[in-house]
Amino acid sequence: MKLASAPQDRSAGRILAVASGKGGVGKTAAAIGMAHAFSSMGERVLLMDGDLGMANIDVQLGLQPASDISTVLNGRIGLADAVCPALGGAAEKGGFDVISGRSGSGALANLHGPGLTKLATGVAALALSYDRAILDLAAGADRATVRLALTADDVVIVLNDEPTSLTDAYAFVKTLRLHDDGASPLVVINNAPDMRTARDAFSAFRKTCEAFLSFTPTLAGIIRRDHNVPAAIRNQTCVSVRAPACDAAKDLQALAGSLARGKEAA
Ligand SMILES: Nc1ncnc2c1ncn2[C@@H]1O[C@H](COP(=O)(O)OP(=O)(O)OP(=O)(O)O)[C@@H](O)[C@H]1O
Ligand SMILES: [Mg+2]
Repeated sequence: MKLASAPQDRSAGRILAVASGKGGVGKTAAAIGMAHAFSSMGERVLLMDGDLGMANIDVQLGLQPASDISTVLNGRIGLADAVCPALGGAAEKGGFDVISGRSGSGALANLHGPGLTKLATGVAALALSYDRAILDLAAGADRATVRLALTADDVVIVLNDEPTSLTDAYAFVKTLRLHDDGASPLVVINNAPDMRTARDAFSAFRKTCEAFLSFTPTLAGIIRRDHNVPAAIRNQTCVSVRAPACDAAKDLQALAGSLARGKEAA
């Protein structure tokens, strides 16, 4: 896993994985928001549902894809053929391409060994057709989730200010670093009631990582709690499209800017 420590080679198809440990912390909402933000900055973006058990990017965006990852894994089509445009598709500013998952698919949940390697290799190859590919991963640290995270150039861990979110995020980072001791996931504090609480949550997480993993994580950004996020999900669109000037939209834009520049949050 490579760190976003320098201005990226835009032609390299950089892969950003969005992970969490704990479920329901806002990975999918953040992944969709970042896809829109990177695209608005002029990047060609692919967003892939890497949640192998409970996929829901298509639901959050109101897409009805003709095919999805399970069609690919069943060998019927290639990964590139499973792409479905969202908000106008990757050619449109603000739009991006999506590869949907399928909830409850045995083919996905039981993926291991060669099948998993083939999927990870396929994602890396397809990413080269884009400036950036974003993988919205499942909660937890199961084999498939960690394998996909290890494929990425950057891993963003989303957590909130709840202690359970912190301990689960810590468990994810620990597992990731057991597989790759150079892995340096970046942190996003989401659903923050205020900046102070968010910074305290990051500080607690940083101290835990330093004490037990000898690793100092970097804060990539903070996304404020914003009623426009659940409202956008109910309307099956991206929060930045529904309410471009709202707090969460501004924070997502700032987060994408920091990640693109390879910088820490200000
Ligand atoms: N910044 C925010 N402000 C307010 N609500 C938020 C925010 N981010 C996420 N939420 C809410 O949190 C809930 C979970 O969001 P989301 O589905 O994106 O989480 P997730 O981590 O992808 O969940 P899962 O682990 O099930 O995949 C949603 O109801 C969403 O509206
Ligand atoms: Mg999700």
